[in-house]
Amino acid sequence: MGKVPTEVMNQHLSSYFHAEKKGSELISRLVEFAPSDEARQWVPVWAKEEMHHHTMWDRVMKNRRAEPGKMDYNVYKLFEITEDYVNRRSWAGSMVGAAVIEHLSNAAAAYLFHDADDDVKIVFKKITGDDLGHLDFDMHEIEKIAKTEEGRKEIAEIHKRFLMEIIEWPNREGTAEADIDILNDTYRIHRAAMKKIGVSLPKMHFSKGAGFEMKKRLIKLLA
Ligand SMILES: [Fe+2]
Ligand SMILES: [Fe+2]
Repeated sequence: MGKVPTEVMNQHLSSYFHAEKKGSELISRLVEFAPSDEARQWVPVWAKEEMHHHTMWDRVMKNRRAEPGKMDYNVYKLFEITEDYVNRRSWAGSMVGAAVIEHLSNAAAAYLFHDADDDVKIVFKKITGDDLGHLDFDMHEIEKIAKTEEGRKEIAEIHKRFLMEIIEWPNREGTAEADIDILNDTYRIHRAAMKKIGVSLPKMHFSKGAGFEMKKRLIKLLA
């Protein structure tokens, strides 16, 4: 793993800054359609932790006297899909979207950690620990949905939508090599986690230029 360029690191820190806040807002809205008392109790705790992550990134940025840039477009697209599921009050869609985003956060933190400054390392450690707790809940909810044939179909459909989106990442302008590495790490982690709860996803490797062939293959695989 090579050194992560400073501008790539900064871009990621900006994305974290925005994503934690956006995540917290979306999670807060889950209370309206959470399917159990346990979930209704957990959701506000989860939203609060994400907001705390946001304030930690805010502090990092202020200490650096850096204005956060925009959220990365690829990450923004994941939130857009997830928000659509929240708008539609889809518990399955919200949980899968959250799991995808949490896995991305984990993978990016692990990837960027070694090249990060000490103050950033502290935040990475904290959010990774919290996110593992969030993922426990998430994955458990998805596992419950995956117990029925109908639920498995729904989860497969949702993943199809996310896959058709992330397949575009490598060829998008502004996507760095590090982003493609992180995407592959994310997918590997996410696929393994899903496999554990009985949801199978196609094996994929994302790279620049492979978009069209991959899309054809994916459409066939997911048909
Ligand atoms: Fe977070
Ligand atoms: Fe989280």
